[in-house]
Amino acid sequence: MEDSFDESEKKGNDFSEYLLDRVRQLEERNLKLRDANRKVENEKRSAENQKVRYEREVRKLRSELERLKGPPLLVGTVLDVLDDNRVVIKSSTGPKFVVNASQFIEQELIAGARVALNQQSLAIVGALPPSKDPTVYGMEIIETPTVSYDDIGGLDGQIQELRETVELPLLKPELFKRVGIEPPKGVLLYGPPGTGKTLLAKAVAKETESVFIRIVGSELVQKYIGEGARLVRELFEMARDKAPSIIFIDELDAIGAKRLDSATSGDREVQRTLMQLLAEMDGFENRGDVKIIGATNRSDILDPALLRPGRFDRLIDIPLPTYEARVEIVKIHTSGMNLAHEIDAKKIAKLTEGASGADIKAIAMEAGMFAIRAERESVTGADFDDAVRKVVGMPNAETQQLGSMFA
Ligand SMILES: Nc1ncnc2c1ncn2[C@@H]1O[C@H](COP(=O)(O)OP(=O)(O)OP(=O)(O)O)[C@@H](O)[C@H]1O
Ligand SMILES: [Mg+2]
Repeated sequence: MEDSFDESEKKGNDFSEYLLDRVRQLEERNLKLRDANRKVENEKRSAENQKVRYEREVRKLRSELERLKGPPLLVGTVLDVLDDNRVVIKSSTGPKFVVNASQFIEQELIAGARVALNQQSLAIVGALPPSKDPTVYGMEIIETPTVSYDDIGGLDGQIQELRETVELPLLKPELFKRVGIEPPKGVLLYGPPGTGKTLLAKAVAKETESVFIRIVGSELVQKYIGEGARLVRELFEMARDKAPSIIFIDELDAIGAKRLDSATSGDREVQRTLMQLLAEMDGFENRGDVKIIGATNRSDILDPALLRPGRFDRLIDIPLPTYEARVEIVKIHTSGMNLAHEIDAKKIAKLTEGASGADIKAIAMEAGMFAIRAERESVTGADFDDAVRKVVGMPNAETQQLGSMFA
């Protein structure tokens, strides 16, 4: 009996030990599982994050795809803003429409603003920056040109005249007021290629501390009807904004050629541009701080309407340089060169009868090239002799090409 009691007590002990052991085991297991669970949960969370990220990316790509697949927008100009959020626009193809405007346009719509239109409803969906952005139309704006009168050789008389007609009205408008005359409005520089017309215009802009706005005549000829005229209008508007300023229209003959009766539609567009130019010049305040300088190689083909008083009323002839002028130009273009010894400018000038300033610049450059080819660091007189032969000795047509190449 006792035995069996002992036995059962022992069994009970064993059992409780076993249970304790088992509980410990289970607790350990529980801990491990809890760890594993935490890990899995972390993984789940990061996977969910990733999913959100991917979803966002998919949405972005999808909307980009939509955007790219969307129909193109038309460009129009606001003519008038009506009271009820409706707007009168002129589409780029010509006709005028009354359309609705999106409420989400941040910029205020004013007459003249460029806007983007939905193709079907022509509703305004966005405002565009003003097209006065000069780079778009090949205008070149130089806030402060670096060319000065000293860089121009042999054109003293022309510089004098340009100073009177451009500088004086800009710097001392009261002189003209006192005498009671209006200063000339526009100055036309004409002469063969490479004689310094563009150079002169830049020098005047620097000397008067004006903004220099250069546009080449051919840039004003646009593909679509009315575009050229609008460009001229914007050009003058911009010049007024930036005043004091000088508008320099280079190669004026591109738009200023005589108007003929038998004209193609392309010619008519060129003429419309010219007429806008004439109108803008007429509407211009003479004592104002915007000056117009034109340049051309062919004053003979210019429309007489451009040359009448009140427009380009001062013609300045820029001829090919004389002997004395060539000596000066040679000195200007060799002044920055590393010369082995003094260069005989007179000799070069004598050899370059009929050459333009640009030709002489080309000679200086060629002489430098000869020195580089011979692996010398300084330029000798012999280099110049070779260069003169190379540039002036060329057939006439090529020399002229060189001239315009450096324009
Ligand atoms: N009188 C001059 N003095 C100094 N350099 C000159 C002179 N004339 C021309 N050059 C040189 O020739 C280059 C071309 O001149 P520029 O651009 O003024 O010619 P352009 O008369 O406008 O010719 P184009 O009619 O072909 O436009 C200038 O950059 C300048 O280095
Ligand atoms: Mg030029």
